[in-house]
Amino acid sequence: MKNMAEKSKNIIEVKSLTKKFKSFTAVDSISLEVKRGEIFGFLGPNGAGKSTTIRMLTTLLTPTSGSATIEGFDIKKDQDNVRQHIGLVAEKIILYNHLSAMENLEFFGRLNHLSKEVIHERAEKWIKRLGMEEWKDAQAATYSTGMKQRINIVRALLTEPDILFLDEPTLGLDPQTTFMIRTFIQELNEKGITIILTTHDMIEAEALSERVAIIDHGKIQAMDTVTNLKRKVKGKENPTLEDVFLQVTGLEIRDRKGKPKRDGGGPGHWGGNAGKRVR
Ligand SMILES: Nc1ncnc2c1ncn2[C@@H]1O[C@H](COP(=O)(O)OP(=O)(O)O)[C@@H](O)[C@H]1O
Ligand SMILES: [Mg+2]
Repeated sequence: MKNMAEKSKNIIEVKSLTKKFKSFTAVDSISLEVKRGEIFGFLGPNGAGKSTTIRMLTTLLTPTSGSATIEGFDIKKDQDNVRQHIGLVAEKIILYNHLSAMENLEFFGRLNHLSKEVIHERAEKWIKRLGMEEWKDAQAATYSTGMKQRINIVRALLTEPDILFLDEPTLGLDPQTTFMIRTFIQELNEKGITIILTTHDMIEAEALSERVAIIDHGKIQAMDTVTNLKRKVKGKENPTLEDVFLQVTGLEIRDRKGKPKRDGGGPGHWGGNAGKRVR
């Protein structure tokens, strides 16, 4: 299994992936590839379709059409194998308030068929690294959001995933916790874990990501390295990723009177895929 995985350079391949909720298309034929070992930033305004995409790739949601493979395993046909390779830090923190961090981790680890010994060994390591040691036996109800999020991250790592999906992992956290989590994401990546990171924080996206995709209205509107995307910004010297984001997602277009632009996206020079494959 590992051998097969190592042969493919792309750890994730997504082709025309689509999710409709009744007549509403939340994710509209997106295609992308993520290379092994990459930190891939997945950006977009609220409602763009980021979490829906992540939920499909992590087998929590069935695609309406299109396909994707994770480590060569099909997200529709090979869900068990897909799940063995991924960890998910979801948008919502799920911890039982009346249980301690360690009890929560034991519970979720057991769901993944891990033994108590393995759970404790792995959990202790990451709990220590994330500064939660003295809190690990306290009830989760007493934790701050940042403490809960750190345990949520430990939970995602229990299965020792090759790919970690982080859906807005630093949202609403204080600068210290944010810094700790960002540093930790980089450390995990240096250990060889491929990272898919969703964030609204452009500084975070730029600091961590090698490549970013900007998704809006369910479509990828731009995808490239941050440096290359910045080159395409018009009318600004030394543009930031925020400049890129605002030009691509085009606030001025959406805010103008009349019909909002529902598809096609930003100006053509961004090279968004809108159904096509872009490298
Ligand atoms: N279960 C659902 N049923 C209906 N609509 C949904 C559902 N989940 C998400 N949506 C809609 O799909 C769009 C994309 O949502 P989401 O993927 O959560 O966006 P993002 O994570 O980029 O903010 C939004 O308009 C959202 O309201
Ligand atoms: Mg979301």
